[in-house]
Amino acid sequence: MKLNIAVLAGDGIGPEIVEQAIKVIDAVSDKMGHSVTYTYALTGAAAIDAVGDPYPPETHEVCMASDAVLFGAIGDPRFDNDPKAKVRPEMGLLGMRQKLGLYANIRPVSTFPSLLHKSPLRKELVEGADFIAIRELTGGIYFGKPQGRSEDGNTAYDTCVYHRFEVERIAKLAFDFAMRRRKKLCMVDKANVLATSRLWREVVQEMAPTYPEVELEYMFVDNAAMQIIQWPKRFDVIVTENMFGDILTDEASVITGSLGLLPSASIGLHTSVFEPIHGSYPQATGKNIANPLATVLSAALMFEYAFKLDHEAALIRNAVEASLLSGFVTEDIDKTDPKKTSEVGDWLAEYIRADK
Ligand code: IPM
Ligand code: MG
Repeated sequence: MKLNIAVLAGDGIGPEIVEQAIKVIDAVSDKMGHSVTYTYALTGAAAIDAVGDPYPPETHEVCMASDAVLFGAIGDPRFDNDPKAKVRPEMGLLGMRQKLGLYANIRPVSTFPSLLHKSPLRKELVEGADFIAIRELTGGIYFGKPQGRSEDGNTAYDTCVYHRFEVERIAKLAFDFAMRRRKKLCMVDKANVLATSRLWREVVQEMAPTYPEVELEYMFVDNAAMQIIQWPKRFDVIVTENMFGDILTDEASVITGSLGLLPSASIGLHTSVFEPIHGSYPQATGKNIANPLATVLSAALMFEYAFKLDHEAALIRNAVEASLLSGFVTEDIDKTDPKKTSEVGDWLAEYIRADK
């Protein structure tokens, strides 16, 4: 098969981790006889520096013309510490999500047997935890208008907006995921306070009879934040709005043991994007210490969702599990004998090439 992949490495550790995922994609593709073309394009602070736009039109064209996008990370402290900056790297990520119509962000959360002891949560709580968080990605408070500041600068406002069709399409996706899994769906909202949440509840309630086999529950986000940590095994599929999903999935990474392990797939109207859920980790930039596994596992999701090549995805996941088992891991997982980012990438590619 011919695989045309757009590579948007972005900022901070983005380029380093993406490089490892590419080694892995190459190894799998060589083994299975696929031919891969990578087209590199600018995004984030790197793109602001080069052309003054964090998601330039040329980059969008590259994404539209590709079968999938491999995305690194976005964000730069130069902008974080400058609240007055007019153009911010994150605008690139949000612009990409909007222009590609990526309304669903899928974040699988599970544990690796070899890492159970790394989670700050007790082993018996996290062992066997396995759920998928489905985060709405192109609506809500991230995109609602108006957003801004009053003229005197003393008042600021964000607006949370959801339309019925936005809730319907993500809810349908979530119900369908539940049907293919353990048939449990939890919708997380704040319907006791927010009008948008009440629309979500109404829409999901209306759809529920179409999925009689799915056991549906509703949960307020504050309660969900507690239950995810207290009893992660109770969840199968979680569906929620943009900002709640952002927060809950960072929290959920604690279950796995490291934020450096959680991949994601963003799917929607055009080309899908595969990216780690962590950020650009500026403190580690260029040090060759960041964990590449979230990006490598995002490449596995790419094979599964964008190319429908499940065996290739399994080869990647096997390699990741083997590296964890052998303790060939970066410093976020092993402080005593840590391996470098590039060493982990080489190890995984080697493993895949040798894997019978
Ligand atoms: C994520 C990130 C982004 C988000 C940031 C970088 C804008 O935290 O993908 O979860 O909030 O969506
Ligand atoms: Mg986030």
